[in-house]
Amino acid sequence: MQRPEQFIASMSIKEKIGQLVQFGKLKEEQDTLVKNGEIGSFLNIHGAEKINPLQQKIMQSKNPVPLIIGDDVIHGYKTIFPIPLALSCSWNIRLIEKTCEISSYEAASEGINMIFAPMVDIARDPRWGRIAEGSGEDPFLGSEIAKARVRGIQKNANPNLPKVTACVKHFISYGAAEGGRDYNTTDMSERTMREVYLPPFRAALEEGAGSLMVAFNDFNGTPVSINSFLITRLLRQELNFEGVTVSDWESIEECINHGVAVDRKDAAMKGLSAGVDIDMNSGVYLENLESIITQNPDLEEKLDQAVLRILRLKEKLGLFDSFITDPSAHLKEIRKDEYVQTARQAAVESIVLLKNNGILPLKRNKKKIAVIGPLAEDTCSPLGCWPCKGNPDNVVSFIKAFQKNPEYDILLEKGCEINSEDPASSVRAESIASQSDLVIAVMGESNNMSGENNNRSSIELPKPQRELLKKIYTINKNIILVVMSGRPIALEWEDEHMAAVLQAWHLGDESGNAINEILTGLAVPNAKLTVTVPRSTGQIPMYYNHKNTGRPSFRHYIDVADSELYPFGFGMSYTSFEYSNLRTDKKVLQEGESVTLKVDIKNTGKLQAYEICQIYMHDPVSEFSRPVKQLVAFKKISILPGETQTLSFTFSTDTFAVLNSQYLPTVEKGTIELFAGTNSRDLIKTTIEIL
Ligand code: GLC
Repeated sequence: MQRPEQFIASMSIKEKIGQLVQFGKLKEEQDTLVKNGEIGSFLNIHGAEKINPLQQKIMQSKNPVPLIIGDDVIHGYKTIFPIPLALSCSWNIRLIEKTCEISSYEAASEGINMIFAPMVDIARDPRWGRIAEGSGEDPFLGSEIAKARVRGIQKNANPNLPKVTACVKHFISYGAAEGGRDYNTTDMSERTMREVYLPPFRAALEEGAGSLMVAFNDFNGTPVSINSFLITRLLRQELNFEGVTVSDWESIEECINHGVAVDRKDAAMKGLSAGVDIDMNSGVYLENLESIITQNPDLEEKLDQAVLRILRLKEKLGLFDSFITDPSAHLKEIRKDEYVQTARQAAVESIVLLKNNGILPLKRNKKKIAVIGPLAEDTCSPLGCWPCKGNPDNVVSFIKAFQKNPEYDILLEKGCEINSEDPASSVRAESIASQSDLVIAVMGESNNMSGENNNRSSIELPKPQRELLKKIYTINKNIILVVMSGRPIALEWEDEHMAAVLQAWHLGDESGNAINEILTGLAVPNAKLTVTVPRSTGQIPMYYNHKNTGRPSFRHYIDVADSELYPFGFGMSYTSFEYSNLRTDKKVLQEGESVTLKVDIKNTGKLQAYEICQIYMHDPVSEFSRPVKQLVAFKKISILPGETQTLSFTFSTDTFAVLNSQYLPTVEKGTIELFAGTNSRDLIKTTIEIL
């Protein structure tokens, strides 16, 4: 008999319930639970020196089941990488996987064995603070990145470290919170849920994610934490997920606030019935499940199923055999040189060049440069929305990196704070701008303006900064704007007036070095947006894979242009690429056949550079209206100056399938339009017919 089945057979009801209990604090009450073997996991505890004694204590109890220790390692543990939204713009799947592998080893070296990541919520509303934690607006790219992050987190290739499981989150449609207000209502058709929000979860589970976190929000009237349709029918039965489900922080108890549970006991019963295995920190399971099961014996089966899933996960993590972390492991693991180098590469490949009138890359000749803006010296904001165990002392600020350039005579002045004016400093900033050949304005958001419940009602540059920029512009028009932020920023005025615009997100420890490499041409920018950048907040939601509607050519608003400011997939280089000769090996195919698409890409500039070739499809006539474009493939390749490369992509007809009225993938007869290009707007097209 397997160990989990052996264990459960000998467990008391309190010990079984204990496996479903997780706390984020370690007070007297929790210590007693550990002593009695009546708790299954903790979060927010770091370090072998704290975790080992807990594991030893529970293994000495009469129910020696080791603990899961969870942590939010979203974009780095101690070596901090770019926020996930930034790194998604690298479209570099292997690199993304590598950063997750590194983070997993660093966390494991301090006793963590469950990482509450990847966050795979599709986001179409940049007012929502947590857009920073995901991989943007596209289900296909989001799915590829979800798989890479699960692979990296669960690589577990270092035998000297505890194994780690991923915990994919937040199931489901959390990113559709109305108004971009975190935790808010989500209400959508099942079709939208399945076509937009489900694919990255399906991908993460197919990649073997060991656990999944349910979301705070209600979905079509029922909070996800007690939603049997989502958890039992969709997750367990349709997706065959056998891993562990974890509530979000007290989200089962919050069903009382949602108005669908009369009290904690009612919430606990509904959470267990729906299939949430672990109650994070609310204690509703601990306090109520014993009486619930006494009064509803049929629910003991649900309890046993949850306990077995948890025990099997612990078995899979090897916890029964090895529950102690080597106290010196972190000394060998944390912030290795190769980890910091990877952080630098990740930061460089996350920077999106949005505009360049030719001022970049900076010429390496003597010149006076004014560096202005509240983020130029900032070493906190680059740590992003989940700084975990990151340290500002490890962050290279922009000015620290830029000052290493000997040929530039650099003047520095903040000019204002992130969200407030500083008249005296503004005067000094205007003065240095007037003395300089050019200005580098380093502006944007602090890291606590995005992330959990840090939503913004407008996504323009914070007013004091924009006012300062306009003032500086009247003095010196050679301005390079470097935007650090956790979300896309509506930069319509800036796009019109700046000489260059760089989207530099929150890039982690190596932020300053990476921005400096791009500005000085040591690196050629190759990142591409994974979210649409609107011209104004009022255009939100705005995403590339929208429907055509019945009046596609009618204007959207009377007071702003119809188009986005920068489209999904957009990003400039210091060279240029020309796409031509898009063709397929067949023009007509039957269901079940495959088709190979080829395209030639020429580097028409003078620099070797990476290009992210994107392939989109459109089904012009279908049972249901289809998005005007859908990303179906991409490749990131390096092309020498003057070189032409031919890229080839092979698709089965499944790629072009739509969900029929029963939500089953169905290949329809008819035309499929295929596109290739450097972003979702500038494309060349061909068509195929499915018979
Ligand atoms: C938070 C977040 C979730 C996180 C959890 C534990 O509220 O919603 O992403 O993993 O609580 O910190």
